[in-house]
Amino acid sequence: MRLDFYLSHVTELARKAAKIAASKGRVTVNGVVVKKANYTVQEDDEIHLDDTLLAWPSEGYYLLNKPADYVCATQDSDHPTVLDLVPPHLGQGLKIVGRLDKDTTGLLLLTTDGQWLHRITSPRSRCNKRYRMMLAEPISDEALTQLENGVMLNGEAEPTLPAVVERISECDIFLTIQEGKYHQVKRMLAAVGNKVEELHRDQIGPLELDADLAMGEFRALTDAEVAYFK
Ligand code: URA
Repeated sequence: MRLDFYLSHVTELARKAAKIAASKGRVTVNGVVVKKANYTVQEDDEIHLDDTLLAWPSEGYYLLNKPADYVCATQDSDHPTVLDLVPPHLGQGLKIVGRLDKDTTGLLLLTTDGQWLHRITSPRSRCNKRYRMMLAEPISDEALTQLENGVMLNGEAEPTLPAVVERISECDIFLTIQEGKYHQVKRMLAAVGNKVEELHRDQIGPLELDADLAMGEFRALTDAEVAYFK
């Protein structure tokens, strides 16, 4: 693994700041100053930043920009899984926080911490998830109000919880919901006679997807971001 990648995972430094720290001679590997960000570190290397000995955190917390065509499963015989996007040494024990459909893109959290995962996905937490979508048909004000108030989904006994809707244009809206029922957003739009053509999640609770994180890329959460859900 590259030194700058390692530093950005185990410290608060972003990748660019990690490169600069190394170039300034602040990093040693097994007692030797290493200035090159692309230096390959090994699992048993002793790495210091200034005087601090670094270690992999005991739990991993990552944010991934999920591309279409990847499934949210640990294994799948027909499709690549989101865990294929994470290097094997980080992927061990990682669990997927909630599910996005194969064709849905955007913010997906991965963690080794089961309690943290539960706090986000438990229906009792009422954690907000914001989706942006392109619709097959222009959506009426009446349909938006129905979505906001709650709609009956096929096969469910209770209507959906109140939601927040923001119209961008005729066929382009944001929808923020607190539940995570199977195919919930697509079923909500079907319930008001529309169809979701493209679906993208850009926010979970206060955590927003980084504008500069390309599809398929991931990064470690900061301690402050992990603490949002503690
Ligand atoms: N709702 C859906 O219908 N699909 C998703 O992937 C996420 C929420």
